[in-house]
Amino acid sequence: MQKEHSRYNVARIILIFWCLFIGVGALGGSVCMLLKPDGSLMGMQELLPYFQVLPFSETLFQDFVFSGFSLLLVNGIPNLIAAVLLFQKRKSGAVMGGILGLTLMAWICIQFVIFPNNIMDNLYFTFGILQALTGLAALIFYKQEHFIFERGDYPNVDNTSDTLVVYFSRMGYTRKIAYETANRLNAAVYEIKSTETTQGTLGFWWCGRYGMHGWDMPIEALQVDLTAYRKVIICSPIWVFGLAAPMRSFCRMAKGKLQRVDYILIHHMGASFTKVADEMDSLLGLKREHFYSIRCHVGSFRENKQSATISSSVN
Ligand SMILES: Cc1cc2nc3c(=O)[nH]c(=O)nc-3n(C[C@H](O)[C@H](O)[C@H](O)COP(=O)(O)O)c2cc1C
Repeated sequence: MQKEHSRYNVARIILIFWCLFIGVGALGGSVCMLLKPDGSLMGMQELLPYFQVLPFSETLFQDFVFSGFSLLLVNGIPNLIAAVLLFQKRKSGAVMGGILGLTLMAWICIQFVIFPNNIMDNLYFTFGILQALTGLAALIFYKQEHFIFERGDYPNVDNTSDTLVVYFSRMGYTRKIAYETANRLNAAVYEIKSTETTQGTLGFWWCGRYGMHGWDMPIEALQVDLTAYRKVIICSPIWVFGLAAPMRSFCRMAKGKLQRVDYILIHHMGASFTKVADEMDSLLGLKREHFYSIRCHVGSFRENKQSATISSSVN
């Protein structure tokens, strides 16, 4: 069986590289400083005077013992622990790896203050930025890929109901809302499937192309008799500030077949997307009864203030 491409895995491996690179480097540096506190093992004797601008320098910075311990405890050991957590595929590894990128940036900021401008500080500050960004990416991809959906969690979904929840979903966020809604209303569920590539990174860009042009995206033939339902609730993601392209095709196909309709739009923004709801009305040739705008953030949802609660609406 072909292994599914995992963006989390790619980010995790890059983050392991950064954690080991920074961690092993810091470990080596601190061992050298502790073995020879005058800094001679690393040719750092001339750097000591620069430390004298720091607080408590007369006690802490007369040699490299304090700096060596600090390097070990702040950048060395934590990065190695983060690498182990990442090898174990723990979410905490991504969080820790990212935070250690920020820590490295803060560390280098102190060096910016005490040392004259030099290439190494600039380089390591850049490494800190890259490590922090890789940690953020790993965390986002982890959340996306561990967004678990079990049909068994929605026992009230009833495919004999006269209320139907229709949805299209690339990543599963809209699907979750659709199933939660159907579960709450004892409604049936129907998934719109596109015949185009919508999955993965390539799918994202392909969908973006349709979204940018405001095109319809071809969908599989409908396997449901829409005229049989007393009410249909359409759940759709927002693509490029507009209606997701497969849902546009669905609305066109459903024109004249629906008796009553509600919309639930899922996105990442604070906007209510009333214009999208208006477009759906016009495509369907039917005025909506209710419409809700829900903001999702990699797995958690928040309903926009301007819309009423879903449960109170549908009857
Ligand atoms: C091509 C594309 C364009 C998008 N454009 C927007 C946008 O303009 N505004 C927004 O808030 N979200 C945008 N999104 C994000 C989706 O609306 C959001 O991730 C939604 O939760 C996806 O639901 P799904 O997981 O069910 O596919 C876009 C997503 C894709 C794939």
